[in-house]
Amino acid sequence: MKKDQFFSENLISWYKQNKRTLPWRKNVNDENYPYKVMVSEFMLQQTGVSTVIPYFENFINRWPTIQSLASAREEDILLAWQGLGYYRRARNLLKSAKQICNQYDSKVPKSLEELQSLPGIGVYASGAIRSIAFDKKAVAVDGNVKRVLARYYGFSGRLDQNEKLINEQAIKCCPDKSNRQYTQAVMEHGALVCTPKVTKCGACVLSSKCYSYKNKIVDQIPEPKLKTKKQKLNCISFLSLRGDREVLLKKRPKNAILGNQWELPSTNWSKTKHKFDKNLCPVPSKLWNKLDVNFTHKFSHIDLSCSVYFSDADSSKKLISNDEYKWVNLRDISNYPVTTMSLKTLNELNLIQI
Ligand code: ADE
Repeated sequence: MKKDQFFSENLISWYKQNKRTLPWRKNVNDENYPYKVMVSEFMLQQTGVSTVIPYFENFINRWPTIQSLASAREEDILLAWQGLGYYRRARNLLKSAKQICNQYDSKVPKSLEELQSLPGIGVYASGAIRSIAFDKKAVAVDGNVKRVLARYYGFSGRLDQNEKLINEQAIKCCPDKSNRQYTQAVMEHGALVCTPKVTKCGACVLSSKCYSYKNKIVDQIPEPKLKTKKQKLNCISFLSLRGDREVLLKKRPKNAILGNQWELPSTNWSKTKHKFDKNLCPVPSKLWNKLDVNFTHKFSHIDLSCSVYFSDADSSKKLISNDEYKWVNLRDISNYPVTTMSLKTLNELNLIQI
């Protein structure tokens, strides 16, 4: 049997026996199945399966159909997403749901062009949705799939150096039928057998034709990613409390990182450390005290170092409460999509428990 066909056929039979029961794999004939696949693909893009499962289940319980999602408030979606990170995905998912309801009669579209016209759906996600939701012949080449192909065919070097080769090979391997199973089979194999570090070559149904296994170089493929230097930025956050444990929160600008989430009012994020200046503060107060806490919040591409100033804002009761600023009782804070940074700060100061 040819090497490409061996790859797809063996993976499909292995998958039938060994696939995990995952909530987005249920009821393929349900009319909401494509919607569920779409939600799962948005969640799984930067997050592992075990983290996603409870979020997916909550999300689908709350918004079981695409119409229900399309009429949801963004603030509620962000709240349901809290802890999954990469919040732009949540906002794009909502925008895509609205667009699908307005333009495509509330049905997830099947064509590559229509899928890729939706916010947050690119080459990878459109392939995943077409194959998994609609059983179409389409490839979905994520990190797991790239690693499996690179090892089996012996593409040495880093994955990003072999993008073209890997994509071409993925297309060659794609079978004419059983695409739904095939796409998930390759992903599953990368997640369970052909894993990044401790591979389970003894249990692998591809090993007899695997270039890296036969040449004993599995641990050398792929070569590690180049480390990109993270940007180091600084900010000051202002903690104002008043009355019965109310804290002042500010909504982040729509188009900024962590857009539309609530946070302790903060300066912009800058390369140089801000010098404390009363004019930076959101609430006029005679007394701002620097707290003895300093956090570094790690994002995929930024390390943000944050110092915190505190003021008791009793004297400013009437000040600020509009769409941008809100006084929120600490006991109600879990009703708002608050940035993880601010939650950690409040937790560290024993004002809330997370
Ligand atoms: N990663 C991305 N999509 C996935 C899926 N459908 N199942 C498991 N892992 C995935």
